[in-house]
Amino acid sequence: MADFQNCDSCISSPLELFERVTAQGEKVRSLKAEKASTDEIDAAVKLLLSLKVKYKAATGQDYKAGSPPVDFSPMSNNGPTTALDEDFVDPWTVQTSNAKGVDYDKLIVRFGSSKIDKELINRIERVTGKTPHHFLRRGIFFSHRDMNHILDAYENKKPFYLYTGRGPSSDAMHVGHLIPFIFTKWLQEVFNVPLVVQLTDDEKYLWKDLTIEKASEYAVENAKDIIACGFDINKTFIFSDLDYLGMSPGFYKNIAKVQKHVTFNQVKGIFGFTDSDCIGKISFPAIQAAPSFSSSFPQIFKDKKDIQCLIPCAIDQDPYFRMTRDVAPRIGYLKPALLHSIFFPALQGAQTKMSASDPNSSIFLTDTPKQIKTKINKHAFSGGKDTIEEHRKYGGNCEVDVSYMYLTFFLEDDDKLEKMKQAYTSGALLTGELKKVLIETLQPLIAAHQQRRKQITDEMCNLNHI
Ligand code: TYM
Repeated sequence: MADFQNCDSCISSPLELFERVTAQGEKVRSLKAEKASTDEIDAAVKLLLSLKVKYKAATGQDYKAGSPPVDFSPMSNNGPTTALDEDFVDPWTVQTSNAKGVDYDKLIVRFGSSKIDKELINRIERVTGKTPHHFLRRGIFFSHRDMNHILDAYENKKPFYLYTGRGPSSDAMHVGHLIPFIFTKWLQEVFNVPLVVQLTDDEKYLWKDLTIEKASEYAVENAKDIIACGFDINKTFIFSDLDYLGMSPGFYKNIAKVQKHVTFNQVKGIFGFTDSDCIGKISFPAIQAAPSFSSSFPQIFKDKKDIQCLIPCAIDQDPYFRMTRDVAPRIGYLKPALLHSIFFPALQGAQTKMSASDPNSSIFLTDTPKQIKTKINKHAFSGGKDTIEEHRKYGGNCEVDVSYMYLTFFLEDDDKLEKMKQAYTSGALLTGELKKVLIETLQPLIAAHQQRRKQITDEMCNLNHI
């Protein structure tokens, strides 16, 4: 979510950029001193170089350690320079100048993860005996860390568990938030494993203009949306940090272990924290890391400390888990494995992700059929041509068309999707017609979700009356 004070794309001054470069430089030095893996050092160096390029583009000066910018002159006011054209992805900001969206192949190289290739998808199919989810077949889940370890464990009848989460920043989630949950439900079904879901109400209290009470309230509202995704209730544990931390010594012990083994320099480098950030933010990454270790949940895993964890999420959350994977062996735990998804784009285009902090960019799970229709018709960026004649002649561009992109997430029928693509690209299908297909696909999906959510709310009300 783009609501942080210290993310790159919302860095308001060259001084903040200067601090970010300094912190990243410190991170590279400490990784080298700790003899971290080459992959980790390379990824940190790449980020450092890209920050230095941004600094130069913003100030017209080369970065010089210990010399903060005093008098700077931006190189250009005529739109982004090549350097600023680079994709930026962190837990709070996703920004690219490319209408097709983030270059995910480059991101894999920069983050040091691995591509989910045909071979891995075939192995998932072989091991589970199930047709791979369309999110896998269509490259929506595109990157992973150590998924082969999970499949080895599964084949050897060793247990593993799933961990995912949500930062409850508002009472309504948007359809983009559903992506990891829909996929997690499928994973739980095909592997038949436990799932833990963390609601980071503490994170949202620390970062947003929210009272503790409001953050807790949003956690309850978001939990209803998560339950409505249809997880196996006998195998799923959903918890809010503000509640669970005070009642689970196992969880808190793991948080303390992570806190002891990660330095301020490291979190500054990974998350861009500055000296003026509150200490709650600085220690928060340890709280998102701890559910990756099975001993945080003794009520589920008893005294087993070595149950492997698999985390499905969009790739914006990867910085938390790079830190977690780095610290895990140093505190005697297994590194969690990860499956990363691409971003569900904003209505206005794939230059940024759908984000709750910009209501016009989002279709919310609380939207009425009419709101869904209006938002799509009014805001969904079209890859169609300006006139019907031109469109019929030259065809539309599915690579930048948001309605088509949304259909790749939600229209499950491969043949129908392919026909849409052919017809739109050839000009036989007009933008309005493509939008109509999307509206007719999303409206019943969201209505069914709202129905399940209402049932859950009613059941909770009945419980409260007992
Ligand atoms: P949050 O609330 O920002 O997002 C919740 C989940 O949704 C993913 N996501 C998206 N996926 C596709 N397209 C989008 N436009 C989009 N926007 C968000 C996020 O990657 C995330 O998986 N700090 C976390 C909460 C958290 C968590 C976790 C997430 C705690 N532990 C473990 C994943 C795994 C947060 O604020 O997520």
